[in-house]
Amino acid sequence: MSNIIATQTVHEKFGGVVPELASRAHMQNILPVVDQSLKQAAVSLTELDAIAYTQAPGLIGALLVGSQFAKSLALSLNKPLIAVHHMQAHVLANLIAEDRPSFPFLCLTVSGGHTQIVVCESPTKLTVIGETIDDAAGEAFDKSAKLLGLPYPGGPLIDKYAANGNPKRFSFTEPQIPGLDFSFSGLKTSILYFLKNAGESNVFKEAFLADEETCKLFIKNNLADICASIQARIVSILMNKLKKAAHETGIKQICLAGGVSANSGLRKAFTALGEKENWKTFIPAFEYCTDNAAMIAITAHYKFLEKDFVGMESSPSARAEW
Ligand code: KG4
Ligand code: ZN
Repeated sequence: MSNIIATQTVHEKFGGVVPELASRAHMQNILPVVDQSLKQAAVSLTELDAIAYTQAPGLIGALLVGSQFAKSLALSLNKPLIAVHHMQAHVLANLIAEDRPSFPFLCLTVSGGHTQIVVCESPTKLTVIGETIDDAAGEAFDKSAKLLGLPYPGGPLIDKYAANGNPKRFSFTEPQIPGLDFSFSGLKTSILYFLKNAGESNVFKEAFLADEETCKLFIKNNLADICASIQARIVSILMNKLKKAAHETGIKQICLAGGVSANSGLRKAFTALGEKENWKTFIPAFEYCTDNAAMIAITAHYKFLEKDFVGMESSPSARAEW
């Protein structure tokens, strides 16, 4: 009924999210956002069935602001309180649209903090069958962008420049990780060496052959091709593991989720692979891919049906398994 997003631009100049500034911005934003969302939905607080909040994982300061606010609201309105796991919510964003996957489905969740392949047997029964052992896919995009001198978050900018580039021009290493897990830290190192050598070598030999000016000029003159090649490698790492997971589980209903699923190269490759493999594929609408309230609400809806409520002692957690 409404899905209001307050974007925090305060972090841009720091090249990443500053936790303390994030909590403060949350404090300032939460009342206006709640007000605006109620207005847009044209509902009053008393008409709500329950109050849901993001319990984990995330930056603890930001989570605390949301949880204290939600608890206060639930207590004062005498409504049930629902604690939602952020990663479950990313997966269930696929249940918002009319055209939904049937159960069981597989979901590749790719965000700034996580990269997971999840088997979803019901809205409340989810199992992680593969995940990153180091950086997340979004981090791989953002850290690569930082190496290119692009501002944070660089993922969308790599996407933008890649649109005019040749993805086959440069080749970056594909990590050999067994099973369904991912690794992106080696890719980052290979990009670092490649750039510092101004494209002369893509392997870990004589490091840093070029001076800073030469490197900068190389990046400037080849930005589109570098971005397209980085994007192509991140996408191929993701698609190879997803294909493997689909083969191993025999599941053909396949979803994408998380902020990185806004990436146009990934969306294209995912749809093409789905056609080739005879999958039925689903990608949430753009506004439900990056962090949003609607995905928390749809998860809360299913928890509400199961009366999965929490008490006032419920508290957020920076890290949490599910
Ligand atoms: O799910 P999300 O909004 O927040 C987290 O829970 O982390 O994901 C944010 C991540 C960031 O790393 C951002 O760079 C990446 O999603 N992202 C993209 C694109 N749009 C957002 N990465 C590549 N291409 C995009 N178009
Ligand atoms: Zn997220």
